[in-house]
Amino acid sequence: MDDAKTIKGTVKTAFVKSYGCQMNVYDAIRMEELLAAEGYGLADAPEHADLVILNTCHIREKAAEKVYSELGKLKRLKAERQLEGRDFKIAVAGCVAQAEGEEIIRRQKAVDLVFGPQTYHRLPELLKEQARTGRAVIETEFPAEDKFDALAEKSLRTKQGVAAFLTIQEGCDKFCSFCVVPYTRGSEFSRPVAQVLSEARKLAEQGVVELTLLGQNVNAYRGGGADGESNLAALVAELSRIDGIKRIRYMTSHPRDMTDALIEAHATNDKLMPYLHLPIQAGSDRVLKAMNRGHTAEHYIRLIERIRQARPDMAMSGDFIVGFPGESEKDFEETLALVRLVNYAAAFSFKYSARPGTPAAEHAQVPEEVKAERLQRLQALLTEQLQAFNHSMVGKTLPILVEKNGRHEGQMIGRSPYLQSVHCELPESALGQIVRVQIVGTMPNSLSGQYVGESA
Ligand code: SAH
Ligand code: SF4
Ligand code: F3S
Repeated sequence: MDDAKTIKGTVKTAFVKSYGCQMNVYDAIRMEELLAAEGYGLADAPEHADLVILNTCHIREKAAEKVYSELGKLKRLKAERQLEGRDFKIAVAGCVAQAEGEEIIRRQKAVDLVFGPQTYHRLPELLKEQARTGRAVIETEFPAEDKFDALAEKSLRTKQGVAAFLTIQEGCDKFCSFCVVPYTRGSEFSRPVAQVLSEARKLAEQGVVELTLLGQNVNAYRGGGADGESNLAALVAELSRIDGIKRIRYMTSHPRDMTDALIEAHATNDKLMPYLHLPIQAGSDRVLKAMNRGHTAEHYIRLIERIRQARPDMAMSGDFIVGFPGESEKDFEETLALVRLVNYAAAFSFKYSARPGTPAAEHAQVPEEVKAERLQRLQALLTEQLQAFNHSMVGKTLPILVEKNGRHEGQMIGRSPYLQSVHCELPESALGQIVRVQIVGTMPNSLSGQYVGESA
């Protein structure tokens, strides 16, 4: 603990800023817990911290480049601190750290620590090593030991809200031709069932009611269980037996790993929420092939039909890339046609971004203005669908999990089964409860409702 004290004896503080996906959010929380166990306090801004960790994302060029402008600001902060004779450490974690390693120090000398998504459990040792040597420390090897075992030993699962993320699977072996994840997160691995259950129980003891299971290909989960290899359907069944856990979600799923057992679970398990993030990226088979997605548009459409047979109210969400190398206007129109057919409740869409080291980056690129125009058309259609979905809720009574205080006095914010944010006048004692709320209106990013009664 002494390491976390300054000479004057005040507690050191850390600020962790996360970019990118939910898995980075989960990792950032685990880093904070780890630092808390080392005696650090949490700062509310970099200006108030002694250690700033940028937990970075490499998925698109913009995300990766943002890190360097952020580092420029932190460098100035560090210089000010040094004039005052005070310490200030800058760390770069996450997927940019994994992908760029030493290059980060070369571009920004003020950085003290660089470590990847598979090495952050070593953070306390890395900080000590940096303090001892006074030199920048880089740790981006994929270690042999189990990160999650090490984390379980060192940090508690503390200070959780009502809903929490839980990583169950990491890495990817699919190698879509546009994607850096197989390189930044490493090859696919699943956490053992017992380890996941133990973490889920700890979360439930802290008051967590809703679990979102995370994985780059979460439905490819193959964790070791009591009778050999398990799968996501079996894991969800076990998790739903934990007292206190009332809702389960999982993301991101791959269309190739959507098993019959998992689809069946949506028909039979009430704790499994009717919301599925199942990206396809593009609607043209030619583009899907060039992307190395390993399935056709037809496969995806049939899959969704079967999922909706199992769970008629299933809200679908997806990811799309426009302007993939070689995408023609006709290919793009097939994406629009697929979107019309599926009818999404939510979606993320991006302009293709050429990433170093990925096969698609080597091909002739679609002009920037064509990408921009396609993205605009796609987003207009998706926004229309999302708004129609939200409007279709008006008049319905939904079970809402109350998650936090709203902006106004007496107002609380909760979540619908379909992941919509719902505002409602409720007493604070409703926090963590599932209540019945009648939806009365829609706002751009949320719904408003009136309390009807306790959930059955
Ligand atoms: N494992 C998930 C996706 C992880 S990355 C899956 O297979 O669906 C999250 C999203 O970022 C992807 O679904 C894709 O839409 C987008 N993305 C990934 N690489 C990209 C790139 N090079 N350019 C633009 N968008 C990209
Ligand atoms: Fe990336 Fe494809 Fe793996 Fe998803 S499945 S993480 S898009 S390589
Ligand atoms: Fe970004 Fe890494 Fe997630 S590249 S999307 S933070 S897995």
